[in-house]
Amino acid sequence: MTTSGFPRTRLRRTRRDAWSRQLVRENVLTPADLIWPLFVQDGENLATQITSMPGVERLSIDRLVLAAKQAFAAGIPAIAVFPVIDPSKKTPDGEHALDPDNLVCRAVRAVKEACPDLGVICDVALDPFTSHGQDGLVRPDDRAPWFADRSYVVNDETLAMLAQQAIVQARAGCDVVAPSDMMDGRIHFIRDALEKEGLIHVSILSYAAKYASAFYGPFRDAVGSQGNLGKGDKHTYQMDPANTDEAMREVALDLEEGADMVMVKPGMPYLDIVRRVKERFEVPTFAYQVSGEYAMLKAAAEKGWLDWDRVIMESLVAFKRAGADGILTYAALEVAHKLNQAPHAQRA
Ligand code: PBG
Repeated sequence: MTTSGFPRTRLRRTRRDAWSRQLVRENVLTPADLIWPLFVQDGENLATQITSMPGVERLSIDRLVLAAKQAFAAGIPAIAVFPVIDPSKKTPDGEHALDPDNLVCRAVRAVKEACPDLGVICDVALDPFTSHGQDGLVRPDDRAPWFADRSYVVNDETLAMLAQQAIVQARAGCDVVAPSDMMDGRIHFIRDALEKEGLIHVSILSYAAKYASAFYGPFRDAVGSQGNLGKGDKHTYQMDPANTDEAMREVALDLEEGADMVMVKPGMPYLDIVRRVKERFEVPTFAYQVSGEYAMLKAAAEKGWLDWDRVIMESLVAFKRAGADGILTYAALEVAHKLNQAPHAQRA
């Protein structure tokens, strides 16, 4: 066709007016796309500001329930609850994770009682509960006796703990368990355990492609696990940021093992992975705008270098464009409020 080029074709025609920009818009963000991660702490009527995450607070259970109600009223389908565990309850093997009366279980019960139609997601991993801050059990590395003090986060022994943790949280009433630990075979193990307990309606949202990322820094401050982790790192189980084919294998395995939904994490620097996962597997695909992404946008906005309202909307619609079905973001409530006031707020 010789009729297609300039000047017959001018892509600026549909960009000229607000009404036509709106008509040709390919992706829309709504409150129903959002999952709100919340931090819960012991105590009453507490909301403690997290320094590295301006605007985010650790909430006592009573305040968490209020937040959950606000989320539900704003049309957010689900929250994810992360506990800040008292250091005195942390042990090398993290047994407190299995206590049906631990903070996260009490929080889930309170939220489901007050807000039964709001989805509640719980992380499955031992790091909030271990004194070393690792997601699994740490044992001496018997494959490397020449390094006298080398230890390893053991896989198979950890699986039994994770399955039990998932059961305890599911019994407390959470709707979704989200293993964030990256042990091999955990989805299989957890699904079997849930089925065996008759917890057949509890879904698994697998942190399938979770990278060993420095963007988790503020989160570890928020839950107080950074001090425990110290100089340690998670490179022997979380993924190498350089890899993408490996992410496909992780997702394929988790789906085979029984994951209902998969997640890519972090978000913004990994949208290529979101796109590949969505295209290849055509399953519910979530992405996590993690603490460091939130902190970086907030910090620049606080300095007056970025316009917060616009960058947060732009960053979230980028997740939709990449193919994400849902986005975990610390800005969920304020974004939902903005979208409810002006559904086209994302236009900027
Ligand atoms: C724990 C967990 C982490 C996050 C979610 N679950 C931290 C980690 O793996 O060290 C990170 C979330 C964020 O940075 O916002 N397994």
